[in-house]
Amino acid sequence: MRNRSVTVIFGSLVLWGLIIYFLISDQPVDREQETTRISTQISKLERRIKQEIALNQELFASISEVKQRKRKIIVNTYTDEKQGRNTNRIDEDKLLLKKEKKYVDNNINNNDVQQLQIEPVYSSETSYNVPIKGKLPNGSPIIAVLVFSCNRITVQRCLDQLIKYRPNVEQFPIIVSEDCQHRQTADVIARYGNQIMHIQVQPDQSDIEVPPKEKKFKGYFKIARHYGWALNHVFFQLRYDTVIIVEDDLDIAPDFFEYFLGTYPLLVSDNSLWCVSAWNDNGKAGLVDENAADVLYRTDFFPGLGWMLTRQLWAELSPKWPKSYWDDWIRQPEQRRNRACIRPEISRTRTFGKTGVSNGMFYERHLKYIKLNTEFVHFTRMNLTYLLKDNYDINFVNEVYQSTVVSFSELKSGKVMAPGAVRIPYYSRQAYKNTAKQFGLMDDFRSGVPRTGYRGVVTFFYKGRRVHLAPSANWNGYDTTWS
Ligand SMILES: *[C@@H]1O[C@H](CO)[C@@H](O)[C@H](O)[C@H]1NC(C)=O
Repeated sequence: MRNRSVTVIFGSLVLWGLIIYFLISDQPVDREQETTRISTQISKLERRIKQEIALNQELFASISEVKQRKRKIIVNTYTDEKQGRNTNRIDEDKLLLKKEKKYVDNNINNNDVQQLQIEPVYSSETSYNVPIKGKLPNGSPIIAVLVFSCNRITVQRCLDQLIKYRPNVEQFPIIVSEDCQHRQTADVIARYGNQIMHIQVQPDQSDIEVPPKEKKFKGYFKIARHYGWALNHVFFQLRYDTVIIVEDDLDIAPDFFEYFLGTYPLLVSDNSLWCVSAWNDNGKAGLVDENAADVLYRTDFFPGLGWMLTRQLWAELSPKWPKSYWDDWIRQPEQRRNRACIRPEISRTRTFGKTGVSNGMFYERHLKYIKLNTEFVHFTRMNLTYLLKDNYDINFVNEVYQSTVVSFSELKSGKVMAPGAVRIPYYSRQAYKNTAKQFGLMDDFRSGVPRTGYRGVVTFFYKGRRVHLAPSANWNGYDTTWS
């Protein structure tokens, strides 16, 4: 607990230092604005310190847990006949210990999370005898499909489609992780027999501690816990290398698997990519090019809703996985670290679930209108190297900033004569929101990034042409205060 006190003392020192600095320093004019700024700063700092304390407490708890488990396992090694299995488990724990030690070091050195490097945790030292399910004998990747299920029997609709479109059982094992202990849902899943793997209910069904103010958001805490547990299980226990995450309320397109298989080489070869998503946040009919089912983009906005990640990314995120709101957390700069996802012109998933944790209004107003792709595109036979950062960025920036500048009303009335893509500039948060609303685009930001944005540019299709809603050409990064 000494570390905890150190953090508290250090935090308070920083806090008071800052207050004193602001009090004695001669700040220019606008007092009111300055005061607001300072108090925002202070509350930010306070929050950070509280977070640090919470993190430390959690960390010590989990370390002692791992230590205990390790002791138990070592004892078991001599008593259990299945030696192989125990060796694996010891490695697993060594690995955990190693990861946690690294995490502690980082924290004690008071480093920013950003500096947490992707470490080769699965080096030969720890996993030489553990088979990783990475490739088929023919060298093609094995990609597990992890379906998150809770208390909706409509998971059947999702599973039926996954099984129907799955081109190869060995290549795409389907794993259903079921939280919530909902009897009817469990029955539905059980009916699939060995077509799928059913991870029956995660072990930790204890009531979740939720801060009083966030009681009504308890669902988000359960989801984050479920995600953390299931992804640990699939990557570290079942030892898959690549996973596609699907939620129980998703319809999928016929080329869903082909899409992920075709983009897999990009994900593993381009370090500036961290996910492939099947989802276009602005993919409403009327905002996509229906003749461009084969066109893909890079996006700085993490779309989720049917997405693929690698073990390497999970090893990086799992030690700091949050207790709730994981999707907004993952979109923060500390997690994203300037990485992008691939997303399609036309979505390969669509959500059919109205009831759920996120509100029904959002579904009614927006999600309901997302167009699901129907045409099968042979992505694995296509040359997708245009999506690699080095190729993409040059072409993208050229296309965007050489396009004709137009206004919404010109476009709407069909007065634009110039052929090809056009651009509508925006220079402020509010200008962005206004224009986005006029087109029916999503107008929100997460950590300053607009949905589908790439280098600040939101690209969509309108009345037969490609439109770029774009910041100025000398844009140099997202403003995280935009929300
Ligand atoms: C793929 O396309 C790129 C241009 O984006 C080109 O340079 C490359 O030669 C192509 N590769 C193949 C195998 O055709």
